[in-house]
Amino acid sequence: MTLRDTLEALKNEALEAVAACGDIKDLQALRVKYLGKKGPITEVLRGMGKLPKEERPIIGQLANDVRAAIQAAIEEKQKALEEREIQEKLASETIDVTLPGRTQPKGNRHPLTAVIEEIEDLFIGLGFSVAEGPEVEKDYYNFEALNIPKDHPARDMQDSFYITEDILLRTHTSPVQARTMEAHQGKGPVKIICPGKVYRRDTDDATHSHQFMQIEGLYVDRNVRLSDLKGILTIFAKKMFGEDRKIRLRPSFFPFTEPSVEMDISCFHCGGDGCRVCKQTGWIEILGAGMVHPNVLAMSGFDPEVYTGFAFGMGPERIAMLKYGIDDIRHFYTNDQRFLQQFKRA
Ligand code: DAH
Repeated sequence: MTLRDTLEALKNEALEAVAACGDIKDLQALRVKYLGKKGPITEVLRGMGKLPKEERPIIGQLANDVRAAIQAAIEEKQKALEEREIQEKLASETIDVTLPGRTQPKGNRHPLTAVIEEIEDLFIGLGFSVAEGPEVEKDYYNFEALNIPKDHPARDMQDSFYITEDILLRTHTSPVQARTMEAHQGKGPVKIICPGKVYRRDTDDATHSHQFMQIEGLYVDRNVRLSDLKGILTIFAKKMFGEDRKIRLRPSFFPFTEPSVEMDISCFHCGGDGCRVCKQTGWIEILGAGMVHPNVLAMSGFDPEVYTGFAFGMGPERIAMLKYGIDDIRHFYTNDQRFLQQFKRA
């Protein structure tokens, strides 16, 4: 094969390879392969010394033409590949600004939380502060400090989860009364509400849950009277269930209050005439309350000759159920979105 044929074949081979190349990196390799210092064209030029003198410029010219042709083909290909890359990038990164945005589902307050916060706000506005206590409680605070000694029949009112003989899951928020009074070391006023979880060995059904919430209230000072309790509860009833609400107190029994009462509100559904909501009585039972028993004051370090107080305890689930017409307490705990979404604020 003559050098001329070799160059011609080289050119065809290179142009074919460039034409078939679909990748900038591969093209770079072709450039090195055909035009590089160790490439075949350099090789040809190096071998020109052996040629007869008159052929040298002709072959030299041809080699340069071949090199230029390959170079041009590579450059053209390079441009085409770069252009293709840009087009692909543009296509893949195209943003359709007319598409509607992806909306984040917005959460809302759990109805029980909303009711508890509403009650907290109301009492904070009346000068109460929010107190807390442990859910794993000593028998002493849950019962004894509340005038319920061991073996007292009143313990049967609240079936308990015991952890040891002396420790249990609190059955009500009332132990926070004793803890808070103790912390005040006999000096009033004590004016707290305490929302929190409580536990009872009940079988879960539409109105019972082994775990539920309570809100405790306690006001101890000189000259606190039953009429103060009545006033506060009236404000509470009106705020939660409407300005037209009346309240009534019925005698009741709790070991930690004397006298003890249960508070009813006039039915917010029928206004008191009798309906399904109030079971035709015109009244709805809302909470238990009373004047703090002298024994309870004394056990927690307050002189019952100097101090008096009232206390109350309510179930926010019951209040939320009444307020929103919820028929099953279990709805509060199962986090069914179909239930929760109904309490979205406008
Ligand atoms: N602790 C009571 C219960 O769980 C509720 C209660 C009634 C609390 C009267 C009080 C109160 O503070 O004075 O059934």
